[in-house]
Amino acid sequence: MSRSDITPLSPRKLVVANWKMHGSLVRNQALLDGYLQGLQSLPQTDVVVCVPYPYLAQVQSALAGTAVAWGAQNIAKYEEGAYTGEVSAEMLRDFGAHHVIIGHSERSTAYCESDENIAEKFMMAKRHGLIPILCVGETLLEREAGVMERVVGKQLETIIRLFGGEAFAHTIVSYEPIWAIGTGLAASAEQAVAMHQFIRDTVAAADKTAADSLKILYGGSVNPQNAVQLLNQKEIDGALVGRCSLDVEQFIKICQAVPENSVI
Ligand code: PGA
Repeated sequence: MSRSDITPLSPRKLVVANWKMHGSLVRNQALLDGYLQGLQSLPQTDVVVCVPYPYLAQVQSALAGTAVAWGAQNIAKYEEGAYTGEVSAEMLRDFGAHHVIIGHSERSTAYCESDENIAEKFMMAKRHGLIPILCVGETLLEREAGVMERVVGKQLETIIRLFGGEAFAHTIVSYEPIWAIGTGLAASAEQAVAMHQFIRDTVAAADKTAADSLKILYGGSVNPQNAVQLLNQKEIDGALVGRCSLDVEQFIKICQAVPENSVI
């Protein structure tokens, strides 16, 4: 297996580490060494690490030539220009990034990112050969009101309306209920499966071929215990892991939860 195989068409389940704003050169190195050692015997799982921008050079040199791919947690919606503090898709490519998280709720909520803004970033990533990992999900209030499908549907429809259903070809969507992120309260396998089916059906209604080439992950308080049930569902193509990705043992256990010989 090599990094170039880690595309949404890979038949293996995918576990993405989202380090968020954590790390230091020293801590990262220990984490990466631990990942590489633990993953040696895990051919059934694809792994991608999404790191803060300043550490892209570090992960590039630590992971080049290994089976683990890397990426970032956001990009600018512009190609280049006078956008102080922004980082472009091409800059990520300079550091060998393959993937980029788009529209994570910790950004869209704190920085008021609209669905349109997120849609533009999604297409920017694609135009530059990066695989976007689009985060969608509802708040607790929205779930309690029973409107979660309407909310997630609107996030997907914005991309479909602006760029067509084919925009989803060879991309990744991560279902991330906002109430489950960092709370220790993951969605049940049943809740996740229902939303994953809804996501695939929504994309399929716009473009069946694109829906067939889409990977759908679950994110929100994934840990070694709940990963077993979640990753055993055929509708769940993998996981996006925050907190537990900062601990080698827990992260490797989550990767081990992917059933052997599982083929998507
Ligand atoms: P968490 O983060 O695993 O810490 O809940 C998940 C995420 O941000 O997607």
